[in-house]
This record gives sequence, C-alpha cells and structure tokens, in this order.
Amino acid sequence: MATPRAAIILAAGKSTRMKSSRSKVLHHVGGRSMLSWVADLARSVGADKIVCVVGEGNADVKAAAEELGLDIALQEPQLGTGHAVLAAKKALSGFEGNMAVLYADTPFVTKKTLNRVFRSLERGADVTVLGFEPDEPGFYGRLVTEDGELTAIVEARDASNEILDIRLCNSGVMAASSKDMFSALGRVGNKNVKGEYYLTDVVEILRGDGKAARAITADAGEVLGVNSRLDLAEAEISFQMGMREAMLAKGVTLRDPDTTYFCWDTSISADAEIGANVVFGPGVSIARHAVIHPFCHIEGAKIGEGAQIGPFARLRPGTEMAAGTKAGNFVETKKAKIGKGSKINHLSYIGDAEIGEGANIGAGTITCNYDGYFKHKTVIGDGAFVGTNSSLVAPVKIGKGAYLGSGGVITKDVPADALAVARAEQVNKEGWAKRYNAAQKKRKAKK
Ligand code: UD1
Ligand code: MG
Repeated sequence: MATPRAAIILAAGKSTRMKSSRSKVLHHVGGRSMLSWVADLARSVGADKIVCVVGEGNADVKAAAEELGLDIALQEPQLGTGHAVLAAKKALSGFEGNMAVLYADTPFVTKKTLNRVFRSLERGADVTVLGFEPDEPGFYGRLVTEDGELTAIVEARDASNEILDIRLCNSGVMAASSKDMFSALGRVGNKNVKGEYYLTDVVEILRGDGKAARAITADAGEVLGVNSRLDLAEAEISFQMGMREAMLAKGVTLRDPDTTYFCWDTSISADAEIGANVVFGPGVSIARHAVIHPFCHIEGAKIGEGAQIGPFARLRPGTEMAAGTKAGNFVETKKAKIGKGSKINHLSYIGDAEIGEGANIGAGTITCNYDGYFKHKTVIGDGAFVGTNSSLVAPVKIGKGAYLGSGGVITKDVPADALAVARAEQVNKEGWAKRYNAAQKKRKAKK
C-alpha cells in the first residue's frame, strides 16, 4: 500500500511588505487566494491530512483555512520555519507517513513537482528538498550538495562567500517522514544570525543520523514567492501568460491574448473564440464554436455550443446559455437559464429567470426581480416574443408562444399563445402640434 501523505502549509507570517489589512496569503492570483491554490495542490497529490499553521494575528487566514477544510495549528510567537512546522505536531499526532512542508505564499508549485518530491521519499530518500536556480539568489538558502547528495542548507545570512556562490537555492518545499521530521525538529536550535529555529537545519541533523538527503529541482517560475504587491502583480501576469498559452495550445482562438484574463478554473473548448478585452471570473465553462465578442465580463456562467456573447455583455453567476443562444451588447444576466436558440440581443437585464427555447427578448427588456426585500422568478416559455422595453414584474410567467406588445409593464401571467398589451392606449389629437408651435413662436417673438 502507498505511504500516506500529509502536508503542512506555513501561513503564520506577518507579511508586512504587502501593506495590507488582509493577510498576504488571502490575496488572489488567478481568481482565488494563494492559500486555496496551495490547499488544492496538497489535495491533488492525495494528502489525507493538511494542517495550516497560523499566528494569532492571522484570524482571517484561520477562518479561510477552516472554510477550505484544513486543520489548524497555532504558532505564537513565530520563532522560525522549524518552529512553525513543530507547531503542527499535535495536529498530526497519530499520522504516520510522509509529509511535505509548503508555503502559503508560493502558489504555483505544480502537482507534478510535488508528486516528484513525495516519490523521491518513496524511492528511498529520507528527506527531500525542492531546489531551483533563481536569477538572483539573494537571501535564499543555498543547497550544498556533494556527489549528488544534499549535505546541508545554509541560510544566506549565515553563509560564507563560497557558499553564497552556489546557485541552487531552497524553494522552501521540504518533505520527510513524520517520524524523521519531528525527531529532527526536536533537536533544531536557534544559534544563527536571525536567532530563529530553522526548518532547513533538519537536513544536517538527519544526515548526522545516517539518513539520506536529496535535492530535486523545479523551474524558478513555479516556486515564485509573493511578498509584495509587485510580486503579486508579477504572479498574476505569470498565471495569465500560462493560461493564454495553454488555451491557444488546445485550440481556443484568442483574438488578442494579452487582453484576455482567465481564472484558475476557466474551461474553454477547442474552437471557441474569444475577442479582445474579455475578463473571466471563476466558474466559467464555454463550449466549442461559441464566440465571446470583445469587452465582456463573464463569471459563474455556462455557455453552450455556438452561443454568441457580447460585445459588452456581463454574464453573472448562475447564467446558463444553451447552444445557439445570443446575449448582445449591454445585456446583463444573473441566475438565468436561457434555452436553445433564444436571443437577448440588446440592453436587457435578465435575472432570476428561465427562458425556454427559441424565445426572442426585445431590446430593453427588464426582469423586475427584486421588490426591495425578496427576489422573484420570471419564467418565459418556448418561442415567446417579448416586445422591446418590456418590464416583467416577477413573479410572472409568460406562456409558450405568447406575444408581448412593446413597452408593457407585465404584472400578470400571460397564457400561451396570447397577446398581452400593458400600456396606456395611444391618443392622437389632430392639428394639436401645429397650433402649439404657432402659439409658442409668437410668444418667443414678443420677448
Ligand atoms: C525560507 C528558508 C530559505 C528559503 C526561503 C524560500 C528557512 C530557515 N529558510 O527563508 O532557505 O530559501 O524560505 O522562500 O526555512 N513562517 C511561519 N512561521 C515562522 C516563520 C515563517 O509560518 O515562524 C512562514 C512564513 O509565513 C512564510 C514561510 O514560513 O510563508 C517562510 O518564512 P520566511 O520568513 O519568508 O523565510 P525566509 O527567510 O524567506
Ligand atoms: Mg521568505
């Protein structure tokens, strides 16, 4: 049977450089918090137990971690990365297997890489560290290797010039069996420049026990840590570039890739086409041959085959556009199911609504779904024709094939195949305009 896996996510930092009232790891990249990226990563490699280490000052992180279903360990005060991992010991009591330490501010480590880290243990290494070669090694810990074996990690502040010349750096990801990890952590001291308990000392301690340490490497982009708003912006750019390339590679047309913004879960089929300046929020899926014209904002929406959206449409959560539907310029939808081939071509708000197949929703149609206290539903049957500038005061049902005259305020259900006219009848007064204009012109001439 495979060795059980666990993960410890370190998130007890103060993140002062972010200059934020919110904890750093709750800031979003690609539409979700860095913490949720890392929690997902841990889950993706089959970690049964995931412990998030937080400080007392991170009440917001604690709440978010609980919501993500993680176990919580409190580290107070924060005396270093080794001390932080030790704080998770109680939460992991009873766990026997391999565990990886992850940082909550390093969102892009891939499932493949973390699997490699665990596999390295499964193949005989006792401790494995993920290394990388940054352009500027700066303050990263240096990985000292000898004949392919990792012998130590030396923090930059404690390193000699010779060690500082080493290019292979510590990403922060480290894995060992729970037994070895906690046994070594119990022996880590704080006699170093920062006076902290360094997780990195575990390597030398376990080596002293006769254990084998290994370094494996990842691309620098994968282990990019976020400390400032600048880092956050760079992480977002890097995420977007990756998504754009992946979408193009799978056969999605992006008319102007640099202006298409994706979320972590945006799903688009090959042969869909996305115009310039389109922003996707979370929860979007788009079927093949759909076209999203420029300047749309789309979130929580399912878009069917061959649908045409925009330009300038805003689809909000709960929108389902079936195959062959249209939502044109200045159309907003929310919690709206639009049946096959139905069209909402211009200037509409359709919320809390269900529209059948082949219906035509005229320009300026508004579902009046909110009475100031509660939301109500509008149901429109197959093939109905809703005249321009209709106000549909929900709850209301428009039957199949019904026809609504323009400018109606529809407050009562309309039976199938009926005509509904709900506006004041027109009055024509012969010659009135002519008389009026003559009188006004006369008045003005006198002044
Ligand atoms: C650490 C590593 C270094 C590595 C670098 C990669 C150590 C001693 N050093 O250095 O080798 O190159 O990360 O980015 O491990 N944290 C806690 N509690 C604490 C201290 C830290 O939860 O008491 C968390 C932080 O929130 C952060 C992570 O641990 O997510 C790393 O801490 P940080 O202080 O940034 O470590 P570095 O000095 O950057
Ligand atoms: Mg750091």
